[in-house]
Amino acid sequence: MDQFIIKGKKPLQGQVGISGAKNAALAILSASILCHDTCVIENIPNVNDVRVLLKSMENLGAKIDYIDQDKVRINSKEIKDYRVNYDFIKKIRASYYLLGALLGRFSNAQVALPGGCNIGNRPIDQHIKGFEALGAAVKVEHGMIHASTSGLKGANIYLDVVSVGATINIMLAATMAEGTTVIENPAKEPHIVDVANFLNSMGADIKGAGTDIIRINGVNKLHGTEYMIIPDQIEAGTYMIAAAITGGDITINNIIPKHMEAISAKLTEIGVAIEEYDEALRVLVNKPLKSIHLKTLPYPGFPTDMQPQVTTLLSMIKGTSIITESIFENRFMYTDELSRMGANIKVEGNTAIIEGISNLSGAEVSAPDLRAGAALILAGLGAEGETIVNNIQYIDRGYEHIEEKLRALGADIVRVSEKPDKKIFKVV
Ligand code: UD1
Repeated sequence: MDQFIIKGKKPLQGQVGISGAKNAALAILSASILCHDTCVIENIPNVNDVRVLLKSMENLGAKIDYIDQDKVRINSKEIKDYRVNYDFIKKIRASYYLLGALLGRFSNAQVALPGGCNIGNRPIDQHIKGFEALGAAVKVEHGMIHASTSGLKGANIYLDVVSVGATINIMLAATMAEGTTVIENPAKEPHIVDVANFLNSMGADIKGAGTDIIRINGVNKLHGTEYMIIPDQIEAGTYMIAAAITGGDITINNIIPKHMEAISAKLTEIGVAIEEYDEALRVLVNKPLKSIHLKTLPYPGFPTDMQPQVTTLLSMIKGTSIITESIFENRFMYTDELSRMGANIKVEGNTAIIEGISNLSGAEVSAPDLRAGAALILAGLGAEGETIVNNIQYIDRGYEHIEEKLRALGADIVRVSEKPDKKIFKVV
């Protein structure tokens, strides 16, 4: 297993480029299955979850060529099978997007129940409710979800909880349904809009993505397209915190500042200085930082995927901060690891009470999931001494070349392969 070894307290300086959004990429790549022609998709992040999804699509029969490191050509014409192999897909949450896409294309889908990060109970009842409303029969057996229909028909679907996954999955299936589907109370995240734009570029008829009501007029056929995925809001936010936690000065390029508003607003409240440009943000610390209260919410609220990173920053700012996690009930597990570095965080239910201290001290810690893993890297960057982060396969699921990007900003971070009796330093 690889580890990161970090020597902290180096103020990060310089420029960093943000990769394409992982969560948009996973949905858009799955959506390409709906069409028989060739799709060229650009700005694909080179992260493990995406590689796993592409492999599983190849296994179904899709033809996938990398034109460039971040650009793929996909032709799904030859896909004949609607059963997704469990071994390919068990590790990634977004495997469920293949359900909506295969159901739309073949009126049949069989996909293993999703895996992904262990951040609490992650039901898919709203996905199932949506498919059933569209006329599919859905059953869960032996860890597989089976959905089938003699023909999808448009319907009015009210989501009982605001769910990113269910909104996208229903959009995918409804694109090929007969008639009009209306999704009420949908999620509004930037990648919902990105997926709708992608589908529309293939000939779908979707209006209202990003608002309170999405209207989908079903079509019979989609055509090939060329599409560029939006930048990753969460990767960008993570580098914003890297600047703040090291007292640095970073310009974060290739982003859409509008997508960053909730994160920028809370960092500004903390006292971090942020300068906004057309496609970049400069983030620097020029005054003492202060504690805040924060609650995670669906977009346009503060994203749950940034909660561990901001909690880590607040653990190093004097005063009492209170974080309420309203999306996933089990998303404070990493605070035990931060405590090993000296952080003073008390978790009560879905609330964390942080008594900020002036310095974390380096320690050996273990990433419990993707975003918490990134938070532990941030803790190491801000801490005194050496931090070793284990279980970094979680971080590789969603951050492209994180150690290289951080090193280019002046961080002292290396990836090592741990062997039973020696560590081999890797140059990547
Ligand atoms: C997606 C993101 C994840 C992010 C999350 C919230 C991907 C691959 N993952 O996950 O990084 O943290 O959005 O922004 O894009 N829920 C139900 N029933 C359902 C579906 C969801 O009760 O059928 C609940 C969940 O338990 C959770 C809330 O709704 O409490 C939001 O979940 P959802 O938006 O669906 O998250 P994911 O799509 O799994």
